[in-house]
Amino acid sequence: MAFATSMQSGSQFVGDSVHPAGAGVVLAVTGASGSIFAIEMLRTLDNDARVERIHLVVSPNALRVLAEERGFGGKSSLVERLLGGPSKKVTLLAHEDIGAPIASGSYPVRAMVVLPCSMATLSGIAHGSASNLIERAADVCLKERRRLVLCVRETPLNLIHIRNMAAATEAGATIFPIIPSFYNHPQTTDQIAKNYVHRVLQHIGLPQPGAYTWGADRQADSSEQ
Ligand SMILES: Cc1cc2nc3c(=O)[nH]c(=O)nc-3n(C[C@H](O)[C@H](O)[C@H](O)COP(=O)(O)O)c2cc1C
Repeated sequence: MAFATSMQSGSQFVGDSVHPAGAGVVLAVTGASGSIFAIEMLRTLDNDARVERIHLVVSPNALRVLAEERGFGGKSSLVERLLGGPSKKVTLLAHEDIGAPIASGSYPVRAMVVLPCSMATLSGIAHGSASNLIERAADVCLKERRRLVLCVRETPLNLIHIRNMAAATEAGATIFPIIPSFYNHPQTTDQIAKNYVHRVLQHIGLPQPGAYTWGADRQADSSEQ
């Protein structure tokens, strides 16, 4: 009866009963390599009419990596620079603000994505540290049984990383490593990032138009025969 209950309370069933309709998505960006994926995710969420709000948290170390990888300096007008223009949907929250709405389970969010997720933040989440807004919001997602996707990036992995991934998985998170696919024949890094972002969004109940589906072209071919 999860469906009936969620419909009565004004929620929308999206794979399980804990995705409130219209609720926002938390996007946390941490100091691992892969800024291109974070920017693609932010832009795709911003263009998705189903997503009413985007709660963006960028760690200080993510800013450092953005500077290295994309030449972004500082936090001023960060959202405008990431998106290429202003957005009414995106709220940039301070990394240290553990009093922000998303720090409480009473505030509805559809899902939280940490992209990229550093090994340091993975560790904080796996151990329930809740010592900054990213770790606290992730902790809230786990306790409220909401979708939490950790797009980890590191190579090679040591045993601490692997154990932390296991602990986070046991607590309910999805480990979604930034490992691109090539069977869809991407020609550019933008296509690689887009395909990866589409896979993550499909996982949180936001399938994207134009997303690559393995076998879809073969089905079309066989139906023409
Ligand atoms: C250019 C650059 C690239 C980095 N890449 C990674 C990475 O891919 N994975 C990782 O776990 N840490 C990486 N780090 C180290 C993290 O930034 C560092 O562990 C930091 O403490 C993470 O903090 P945060 O999780 O609060 O953002 C990188 C650092 C720099 C400067």
